[in-house]
Amino acid sequence: MKIYPVIDTEECTRCGLCRKDCVANAIEEATMTVNNDLCIRCSHCSAICPVGAVAFNGETGTLLNKLPENMDLYFETLIKRRRSIRHYKNKILDDSTIKRILEIVNHAPTGTNSQKVSVTVVNSFEKMHELSDIAMRFFRFLMSVLINPFTYPIIVLLSGFKGLKRLVYYKKNINRYFEGENILTHDAPALFVFHVSKRSSCPSEDGVIWATTAALYAESLGLGTCYNGFLVRGINSSDRLRRFLNIPKTNKVYEVFTAGYPDVKYVRSAYKSELKSTVII
Ligand SMILES: Cc1cc2nc3c(=O)[nH]c(=O)nc-3n(C[C@H](O)[C@H](O)[C@H](O)COP(=O)(O)O)c2cc1C
Repeated sequence: MKIYPVIDTEECTRCGLCRKDCVANAIEEATMTVNNDLCIRCSHCSAICPVGAVAFNGETGTLLNKLPENMDLYFETLIKRRRSIRHYKNKILDDSTIKRILEIVNHAPTGTNSQKVSVTVVNSFEKMHELSDIAMRFFRFLMSVLINPFTYPIIVLLSGFKGLKRLVYYKKNINRYFEGENILTHDAPALFVFHVSKRSSCPSEDGVIWATTAALYAESLGLGTCYNGFLVRGINSSDRLRRFLNIPKTNKVYEVFTAGYPDVKYVRSAYKSELKSTVII
């Protein structure tokens, strides 16, 4: 059931801040009531109210701390410290850590405030290996169908020799997995899967924004993460993987990352090629 804001007209001082900030123009001035047909439940009205007169289900939201001094420097360090982690300690995540990440990521935005992002978390070495095996067997099957001497000319025609080389490289990597090297999930203890209802307005953007928010927050908790493009495609294409993760058919996966306690330490920032940027004034 959708919860809409209710304005306590006794408490309300008619300062007008909520009406001015309402993106949906949903607050009727004379009565100070909310038109639920227009309201997108973004809660700007309750967040901005100086006297706490606007509540969702009786809750006015917690008062926010001020940003600490030098926040920009902390944030810069956080962004630069986040690297793809492919070596993890032999330790699963604490329940409280997962709970914290999920609680915080729920504050990330969604297009038209649709709030239709779901997160599935795996936190078990055993389940992660099971999942990796299902995925890699699926990829091996796909590759055997796609890449064989009969299909070589078609691949070259469609994507050139470079495309063929890349596919052959992937095929070799799949073999490496079955020889005992976990090139898919790197023996991480945990996986975060971000899947979004196809009915939401901006599903791909929502999914990626949520994953990025969660990955950076995980970094601040001392975790390491690694995005996984193969699993995004794998889960969306394999019914077995979908069933394993209990992803509803109504949802599409937009981002996935592995997570765990890093067993590597990077002491220097990454080399990046020069950014092509334009500022229009
Ligand atoms: C969308 C996306 C998909 C990725 N998929 C994989 C993947 O499947 N496997 C992997 O090991 N790394 C994957 N990566 C990690 C990139 O290789 C990595 O971000 C890049 O090399 C830069 O390194 P850094 O993250 O340590 O700065 C992915 C990254 C992104 C952004």
